[in-house]
Amino acid sequence: MFKGYVMADAPKLEWEEGNVPFSSQFNDTYFSRAGGRDETSYVFLAGNKLTERFLGTEAFVIGELGFGTGLNFFVTLDAWLKTPHEHRCPLTFISYELYPLSAQDMQQALKSWPEFQPYLDDLLTCWPPKDGWNSYDVQGVTLKLAVGDANDLLPTCAESVDAWYLDGFNPSQNKALWEHALMEAVFCKTKQGGSFATYTAAGWVRRNLQDVGFTVRRLKGFGRKREMLVGTRD
Ligand SMILES: C[S@@+](CC[C@H](N)C(=O)[O-])C[C@H]1O[C@@H](n2cnc3c(N)ncnc32)[C@H](O)[C@@H]1O
Repeated sequence: MFKGYVMADAPKLEWEEGNVPFSSQFNDTYFSRAGGRDETSYVFLAGNKLTERFLGTEAFVIGELGFGTGLNFFVTLDAWLKTPHEHRCPLTFISYELYPLSAQDMQQALKSWPEFQPYLDDLLTCWPPKDGWNSYDVQGVTLKLAVGDANDLLPTCAESVDAWYLDGFNPSQNKALWEHALMEAVFCKTKQGGSFATYTAAGWVRRNLQDVGFTVRRLKGFGRKREMLVGTRD
């Protein structure tokens, strides 16, 4: 029997100084205490060489494991909007989230970046999302948000991805978002020449990514982190 839309569970949040959300369920923060926006730019945008890649292509698709506060999405949207209009390609951002934040929690998490408020206002006109696939147009970018376990939903996505943001909390706290089977699904949904970036350099995650077919490199990590990983599907 159809029971209507099922709403996802709420995340278990605590707040650290500076409006940094901490998950008591996964024992990790949603973004770096040392600067969320800078971490996103360094790890995910620079790690995937997005500034160059937004130019000179017909269309670009980003995939993300863990939508969280939306910070990665808004930093990406901002970078895309700053690309000269006549050169920038249409952008689709596909993200997976098991526990969507409430509108109020997103507002609080993004308070440090008032420049994102207009983007957030746009998104929150249709919030909260329902279980399964949701589609939004935010300032010209298509956001496809899949609510539920990425392990179940990723195989249901028809699109292939140019660049992945692997952002599923510390792997030791959330193995389910870094396991071999999911990395294999990520690889299968990556275009030839596509890439991934992640802040973790955990050995078992690196081996999973190599084993499924990515060429993996270690780079200097953000802030005080020694290393992070990037890779390509060659
Ligand atoms: C580090 S946070 C992501 C931060 C986010 N990218 C941002 O910009 O704020 C990790 C996210 O992964 C989500 N998550 C954890 N397990 C998941 C799963 N199995 N499937 C989908 N999302 C999951 C968490 O709820 C959390 O929002």
